[in-house]
Amino acid sequence: PSVAVVVVAAGSGARLGRAEPKAFVPLAGRPLLAHALDSVFGMGEGLDGGRSVQLVVVAPASRLDEARAIVEDAAGVASDRVSVVVGGATRQLSVAAGLAAVAPGTGTVLIHDAARALTPSALFDAVVAAVESTAGGVIPGLPVADTIKRVDASGAVLQTVDRSELAAVQTPQGFPLPELLAAYEAATEEFTDDAALFAAAGHPVSTVEGDALAFKVTTSWDLRRAEQLLGGSAQ
Ligand code: CTP
Ligand code: MG
Repeated sequence: PSVAVVVVAAGSGARLGRAEPKAFVPLAGRPLLAHALDSVFGMGEGLDGGRSVQLVVVAPASRLDEARAIVEDAAGVASDRVSVVVGGATRQLSVAAGLAAVAPGTGTVLIHDAARALTPSALFDAVVAAVESTAGGVIPGLPVADTIKRVDASGAVLQTVDRSELAAVQTPQGFPLPELLAAYEAATEEFTDDAALFAAAGHPVSTVEGDALAFKVTTSWDLRRAEQLLGGSAQ
């Protein structure tokens, strides 16, 4: 069965605080989006391999041409298996825009944040394999290292949360396409991630082991960490 990857890159990056949208901020001299696409094109399936992988990049309207150039550069050749579409005002709307461009009949779709620019290709492969073996939703999760407290609005500690029951989740998140499309159709509220939207439609979601390199570049501190991991100088 075929695989599609939707990379959402249409956010503004308010917390990063740069002039350009986050996916277009340079990391070691290349836009975050270019790094993210390296991982997609490194998937075991490969765009030209035995199984075809479709790539849909969701970009801000103001950056469509730049996104197309980055995608073409990453793909190496012009291909009808890659496309760039305009995103929406929220991440959920951007994912919906990307899903609308996924070929009908696709078996498994992965939704990935461009901001998780250093995610290893092996994590994409692991999520695809787990979706195909479970037929449910699959998300990468990591144990939570810090002790977590429930606090009220004034900052008073109410409770210590049992850490053994917690996972910090990442992307790519993988789903059987027909069920995810139906879940998006049915969604009437804003969910924090695609797995929550999928679960709200009554479908099971399980975790695979996440990867520390799949961290999300959210603040300038994260960008500095990514630069250091790539061996470059901090900006
Ligand atoms: N995203 C998107 N469309 C939106 C909002 C977010 O495609 N309307 C994408 C971002 O480009 C990012 C991913 O969703 O790759 C995760 O979102 P986040 O890290 O929150 O990025 P931003 O929303 O851009 O950042 P911020 O919340 O700091 O503004
Ligand atoms: Mg955001």
